[in-house]
Amino acid sequence: MASTSHLFFTLILITLACSAELQPWTDWDKLQSCTPSFYSNVFTREEELVAFLKGSSSWDQVKVVGAGHSFSSITLTDDGEGQTAMLNLDSYSGIVSVEEGDQDGVKHVEVKAGTRLRDLNTLLEARGLALINLGATAAQSIAGAISTSTHGTGSSLGSISSDVVGLRLIDAMGVVHDSRQEPNVLIYGRVSLGVLGVISTVTIKAVPLFKMKLSKFDLPLTELLENHDAYLANYSRFQWSTVPYTSTATVLLREPVPLDTPITDCWADPPTYPCVDVSYKTLVDSLERYDNRTLYTECEHFIGRENTLPAVNDFLDFQEDVKDQHNESKCDLFFNIRYVAADDIPLSPMYQRDIAVLSFICLGTIDHTGDSSEFKMYASGLENLTKLNYDGVPHWGKQNWATYEDIAPFYQEMDDFNAFREKLDPRGIFLNDYTRVRLGLTT
Ligand SMILES: Cc1cc2nc3c(=O)[nH]c(=O)nc-3n(C[C@H](O)[C@H](O)[C@H](O)COP(=O)(O)OP(=O)(O)OC[C@H]3O[C@@H](n4cnc5c(N)ncnc54)[C@H](O)[C@@H]3O)c2cc1C
Ligand SMILES: *[C@@H]1O[C@H](CO)[C@@H](O)[C@H](O)[C@H]1NC(C)=O
Ligand SMILES: *[C@@H]1O[C@H](CO)[C@@H](O)[C@H](O)[C@H]1NC(C)=O
Ligand SMILES: *[C@@H]1O[C@H](CO)[C@@H](O)[C@H](O)[C@H]1NC(C)=O
Ligand SMILES: *[C@@H]1O[C@H](CO)[C@@H](O)[C@H](O)[C@H]1NC(C)=O
Repeated sequence: MASTSHLFFTLILITLACSAELQPWTDWDKLQSCTPSFYSNVFTREEELVAFLKGSSSWDQVKVVGAGHSFSSITLTDDGEGQTAMLNLDSYSGIVSVEEGDQDGVKHVEVKAGTRLRDLNTLLEARGLALINLGATAAQSIAGAISTSTHGTGSSLGSISSDVVGLRLIDAMGVVHDSRQEPNVLIYGRVSLGVLGVISTVTIKAVPLFKMKLSKFDLPLTELLENHDAYLANYSRFQWSTVPYTSTATVLLREPVPLDTPITDCWADPPTYPCVDVSYKTLVDSLERYDNRTLYTECEHFIGRENTLPAVNDFLDFQEDVKDQHNESKCDLFFNIRYVAADDIPLSPMYQRDIAVLSFICLGTIDHTGDSSEFKMYASGLENLTKLNYDGVPHWGKQNWATYEDIAPFYQEMDDFNAFREKLDPRGIFLNDYTRVRLGLTT
């Protein structure tokens, strides 16, 4: 029975592959695009993914995409390189199971890989649960989010990947690997850049639903810099930003409050700060506000936290150095600083060090001009100085120009990761130009 349905499904896919018009695929900011030979978002079950991969000998490249929210070319198929397939798992969504975790009150929630974090938030809320932390949006798929080590802010909070306790992964031959039987699947799979295979389910920690108070206020940049270490010590979820060529900093603080604290609607437009809400509504925008966002492009670099102030000051100096090349009608610039705790995941930018994350945004890149030269000047400036002076590494999912030589000294377990990858995907169908360059796999 099962094999009949596999065969049927495979036949449908082959028919689709032969008849589908080639359509360009673009990422969120519309700066990255590719034209795969085949695109499908019809997968609803693990067996269908297995069937597709068992027949994968006809594909030279297979890329799985989530929400397409990476700014880097990590998601792309390489155009002109044989038969390329892009799979999207939006139809493979939802919670599989909720089990007791080993820590008090913590549950282990197994989630289908295509589940968008925003859907997971509401599914968990209905069960009185919440994720421990989120980034600045919840539009990502859970598998996409962990594959690039997506993080939020919190001096002792890790990335979303660091909360993952189990994975099911389908390799290039269509074999399912479960971390319960094969610990390496979890060790290497929590941050895998999409190159180990197709993640089928992610088991992640959830905690009892909690509320937070979100405060947002401006202060002089000099005052922020003087009190930086006190803010970091006093608030467990501190982040701040500044607009280049202004003297103001904007602080965002989130503090847990008792569950019976009345909600004041952090998703109001605009909210009255401070506001109180369930945790995820203090961390990410409402869908309406998200859909209304002006597109931007972003880079982000991870440095040892002890270097936060010197690196911030270096980048402020760099901004002064290039001030006469700045063209304010190109896009709106933002410099954001967040904090993430160390983990031990081989390809995590948080590998064995507490970090500060310096990010730079060019808001309106596309809308205003379609030209990213303004972004490139600041982004390459930030990348160069964090790399040269502070052993910085880039976010896998954000714009960067890093090479294997740049990052290999930091990723001490990259050889082991590559050896594991080779076993799961001997032909390298899950690799693309972006990952080959950074994993040292170019010939
Ligand atoms: C508006 C916006 C806000 C953002 N905010 C933050 C933030 O606060 N913090 C942060 O760290 N990042 C942030 N990002 C970056 C974003 O979180 C990451 O790029 C994330 O990887 C995107 O998830 P996605 O589902 O869109 O995956 P995609 O970008 O589609 O894919 C990313 C990678 O995951 C792989 N992948 C996806 N699904 C699977 C699967 N099932 N199996 C195997 N591999 C898979 C892909 O092959 C690719 O390598 C933001 C991006 C945007 C556009
Ligand atoms: C941090 O906490 C200390 C001790 O409570 C307090 O004196 C100081 O003003 C606080 N600083 C900031 C920036 O919150
Ligand atoms: C969306 O943007 C429009 C135009 O800028 C604005 O009028 C509207 O209030 C915004 N809506 C939300 C929900 O932010
Ligand atoms: C600044 O950017 C705008 C928009 O792209 C462009 O029209 C203008 O010529 C630029 N100015 C300079 C001095 O380059
Ligand atoms: C950063 O370094 C690269 C490589 O050396 C160089 O091409 C680029 O111009 C530099 N960026 C800036 C802003 O100096």
